[in-house]
Amino acid sequence: MKSKITWYQSLDSTNNEALRQIGSLDSLSVIASRFQTAGRGQRGNSWTSRSGENLMFSIVLKNGFPVRKQFVINEMASLSVVKLLERHSLAAKIKWPNDIYVGDRKICGILIENSVNGDKLGRSIIGIGINVNQRDFPENLPNPTSMLCEGVEKLDPELLLEDFMRIFENFLLTDVDTLRNEYLGHMYRFGEECEFKDIEKNKLFKGTISGVDEIGRLLIKATGGEDRTYGFKEVAFVI
Ligand code: BTN
Repeated sequence: MKSKITWYQSLDSTNNEALRQIGSLDSLSVIASRFQTAGRGQRGNSWTSRSGENLMFSIVLKNGFPVRKQFVINEMASLSVVKLLERHSLAAKIKWPNDIYVGDRKICGILIENSVNGDKLGRSIIGIGINVNQRDFPENLPNPTSMLCEGVEKLDPELLLEDFMRIFENFLLTDVDTLRNEYLGHMYRFGEECEFKDIEKNKLFKGTISGVDEIGRLLIKATGGEDRTYGFKEVAFVI
């Protein structure tokens, strides 16, 4: 294994810590923490997790991916979580762009923070929170679940992270077409007619996901209408 994992008892956020140490961290360094006091999610949300029960970590990548291909990072991270869960007999799906669901419940969130250097990515910090051993969740979370809630026995987060990194390192070597096909093959609600919300128009509509484009935008065929393309934060699933 090429990755180097460092565990902390408590941090504000593993993404923040990775950013603070970015100058001295090699690619594939991993910052993991048993607790976060200010865990961050997408769209400015917070990420909460009971101390020691779950897996919270950030991977540093300094691979200089072309900016236009940056969605491969989402694909590698999401697919690695899906494969990890499959090893524990959980069939997981990727809710575009990178939430991981079991059934209609969220088991993992991913926050990717890239820096851009010309037409290449400078560095990526891939923050991943997987609910592992937590049984109860705050009432305000819409639809959380954990590996334990889905019937998996209690697991050691440290061993789970080592397994995760082995899977992730394999995906780093996988070609982009295979990654894309695997991603599409594991997409939540792919090919099923369902309801979405167009955020800009503040309108609900029915449609069917048909794929993602080269830069990772979601392609939806609106029922009885046109093909639509949505960037991150422009569309929401109605669950
Ligand atoms: C989301 O679903 O909104 C993304 C959640 C990402 C949470 C993880 S936990 C480890 C890493 N550190 C953070 O502060 N956030 C990510």
